[in-house]
Amino acid sequence: MQRVEILQGDITTLHVDVVVNAANEWMLGGGGVDGAIHQAAGPRLLEACRQVPEVAPGVRCPTGECRITPGFDLPARHVIHTVGPVWRGGASGEPDLLASCYQNSLATARGHGLVSIAFPAISCGVYGYPWRGAAAVARQSLEAFLAGDSRLQRVVLVAFEESLHRVLRDTF
Ligand code: APR
Repeated sequence: MQRVEILQGDITTLHVDVVVNAANEWMLGGGGVDGAIHQAAGPRLLEACRQVPEVAPGVRCPTGECRITPGFDLPARHVIHTVGPVWRGGASGEPDLLASCYQNSLATARGHGLVSIAFPAISCGVYGYPWRGAAAVARQSLEAFLAGDSRLQRVVLVAFEESLHRVLRDTF
């Protein structure tokens, strides 16, 4: 797909306008890519996340939505924190919620005039989303968005695991 690159590696090293974080609803860090991004961005990122207003007790970002902060010590200028669905078998709205993560993150990037964005495999770690299904949702979401957009120049999908990298390459 034009403008889309599939890479294997560590998203925190990428020089893009914005990296997307697979966060949780309270936005105060965690393991996986969330931990790696907080580690690389430094403590100011956690402080910025704390400043994001709660929309319900303990919830700064509901599942499927996103919030933007600076990137601080990251090479990326910004971080878009999005919350993917926990996989519960597929009949609990997981595909639509995952698609919302991609759509909302892309729209937020565009709204801020950002032209390059990198995504991790949202929900594909601790949240247990099957990789092939998640890759198909990512593809559909990117296709739909890019068909109506000419400003975004570069979208990078980053797989940490080699096996996930293969799934993404097969899908795109
Ligand atoms: N760069 C790119 N991808 C990474 C990195 C990294 N540095 N570190 C981990 N990943 C990959 C994982 O291997 C997985 O394929 O990101 C994908 C998403 O996995 P998770 O980080 O577990 O995210 P998710 O499944 O959405 O679960 C979110 O995990 O860390 C917590 O706070 C987070 O509670 C939230 C939950």
